[in-house]
Amino acid sequence: MIVSPLMTVMVDAVRKAARGLKRDFGEIENLQVSRKGPGDFVTAADRKAEATLREALMKARPGYGLVMEESGVIEGQDKTHTWHVDPLDGTTNFLHGVPHFCISVGLEREGTIVASVIYEPIKDELYIAERGKGAFLNNKRLRVAGRQDLADSLALYGSPYLGRGSHPRLLKELAAVMAVTGGVRQTGSAALDLAAVACGRADLYWERDIKTWDMAAGLLLVREAGGFATSADGGADPMTAGSVACGNEVLQRELVAILRKVGG
Ligand code: IPD
Ligand code: CA
Ligand code: CA
Ligand code: CA
Repeated sequence: MIVSPLMTVMVDAVRKAARGLKRDFGEIENLQVSRKGPGDFVTAADRKAEATLREALMKARPGYGLVMEESGVIEGQDKTHTWHVDPLDGTTNFLHGVPHFCISVGLEREGTIVASVIYEPIKDELYIAERGKGAFLNNKRLRVAGRQDLADSLALYGSPYLGRGSHPRLLKELAAVMAVTGGVRQTGSAALDLAAVACGRADLYWERDIKTWDMAAGLLLVREAGGFATSADGGADPMTAGSVACGNEVLQRELVAILRKVGG
């Protein structure tokens, strides 16, 4: 368990926004839905949750910058700290009534993610991590799964919206990963995919074309749970590369080798 003023700020902000999401999820038939691009939906619930988080985080840490999915970059006076916030990760699930979505908040200090919270309102599952202090799900310490054989593993992946770039490559990657793993799944929430690897429910997860707000919090969870995370091509920093591949040390390395081979 982690008790710190920072964690209290983050958990309070996330729980407050989650109450709104849960209410809106109960009334999705009345929800305002629009498109940011082909297949890229945003709802009034995303916007309201983001406003709640923005207000709470700015009030508690006035100088910190923010990178938020719906409002973009908000510069702060303190150039060393930045929140990466996804107010609703899994919007497509949400608006279809699929109860698999979350709020994800990660705090970056000079290029390193130092604290994170991911909260899944419907299951009341709260994931937290602070750098050097471990990762927890509802106060239970997390550890990535220890499986050493790809044939036993469960791998998660994400796919781009209609009209975004990496489809042909993903299809090849999927074929290659499917051929050697025990199972492959797509859940529709990048942050919860990272959390699933951190808590050992899944062994592997990879995705290209994702943003810092999708992954900041989850990357720290995975690492604090003893896992490894690189870009999909094995680069050291998923945040700047915009892609991720994670798992335990052995399987993550094998996944990256497969993804690289597909790329030629
Ligand atoms: C999306 C989800 C999805 C992933 C996409 C993300 P959103 O986030 O995390 O699983 O495949 O890349 O953009 O739009 O629901 O916040
Ligand atoms: Ca979105
Ligand atoms: Ca997202
Ligand atoms: Ca989102």
